[in-house]
Amino acid sequence: MSETPRRTRRYVLAERPAAPTGPLEEGVLRYEEDVPVPRLGSGQVLVKVEWMSLDPATRSWMNDTPSSLPPSPLGETMRALGAGTVSASEHPDFVVGERVCGLLGWQEDAVVDGSSLRRVPDGVPLNASLNVLGIAGQTAWLGLHDIGRPRKGETVVVTAAAGGVGSVAVQLAVAAGARVIGVAGTPAKCEWVRELGADECVDYREDDVSAACSRLCPDGIDVVFDNVGGAMLDALLPHMAVNARVVLCGAISRHDGGRGPVPLHNWFHLLVNRVRMEAFIYMDHEDRFDEIEADLLPRLRDGGLRSREHVVEGLTAAPAALHTLFDGTNTGKLLVRVGRS
Ligand SMILES: NC(=O)c1ccc[n+]([C@@H]2O[C@H](COP(=O)([O-])OP(=O)(O)OC[C@H]3O[C@@H](n4cnc5c(N)ncnc54)[C@H](OP(=O)(O)O)[C@@H]3O)[C@@H](O)[C@H]2O)c1
Repeated sequence: MSETPRRTRRYVLAERPAAPTGPLEEGVLRYEEDVPVPRLGSGQVLVKVEWMSLDPATRSWMNDTPSSLPPSPLGETMRALGAGTVSASEHPDFVVGERVCGLLGWQEDAVVDGSSLRRVPDGVPLNASLNVLGIAGQTAWLGLHDIGRPRKGETVVVTAAAGGVGSVAVQLAVAAGARVIGVAGTPAKCEWVRELGADECVDYREDDVSAACSRLCPDGIDVVFDNVGGAMLDALLPHMAVNARVVLCGAISRHDGGRGPVPLHNWFHLLVNRVRMEAFIYMDHEDRFDEIEADLLPRLRDGGLRSREHVVEGLTAAPAALHTLFDGTNTGKLLVRVGRS
């Protein structure tokens, strides 16, 4: 029987950020060190949080505008995905010691409804349930297989290809027999994308993406798996093949320098080339998570699904770490190892 903590530590969303994108001002998040852990109600579970995921959506949830979910409520624990171990349970399906993941928040101990949790499969490290078996893997799988649907020999371009979602999308596209071109922001990230099986990787800070596409995709691009949006997406549109697909997965460039919305100048190419462009939010497809896990888990176990993680230590490192997603200094799926120091 584990010991149930009476007090915990957490970050509360105290104020909305002044701007929808950009670094957080002091005062947006409030650190609380001596918070009583609520008594469990029927159906609730207490989870000792060991890992927390920082995602581009985390920043959007701080704003007062709807994004993938409604805004994270003011005065409450900031929202985040997390993984940990059950330390007390009033839910019939969970016992102390089980490993679970879900929306656990920026805190060391989370009281949540058991029905909102997923079990982490045996032998899988907890952190993988926030990465290749979690948000990154589920998102890449859904976007690539449901929307992109690459066929053998087709050309797939993945943007932000070295990141959490992008690196899984690259590997799934390679496994589908596609010719894969990654786009990433440093030589080291491009090297990693090639190690994952991509045929080429364009360093967009060094190379012009459109010129690189003319060189590398002379017959056009069949699938764009886009994590970036804005000018990057616009540069790819003139290179789409007839009947191509654009997977609108993310728009991380909107956090770039507060320039506001960037127009798509090249939309006409969608029309003349009969291109289908479709967006999705992975959370809408929870009913598919078992199916996705059944496909990804064997690949993870046999080494066919690799990942890099950018781990920061301790809950108090989280606020500063969030911005690495937007300045590109994260070197893999951004995770916080939560722990009592
Ligand atoms: N649709 C969904 O349900 C869903 C779910 C999860 C995530 N997403 C989206 O998936 C994308 C990737 O998320 P992730 O968690 O895997 O993050 P990530 O790729 O691990 O990290 C973000 C990366 O984006 C790149 N980036 C940042 N600003 C950029 C810019 N202005 N232009 C080009 N690249 C830029 C940086 O890499 P470089 O150094 O290579 O620039 C950075 O490392 C995000 O857009 C996210 O919102 C969507």
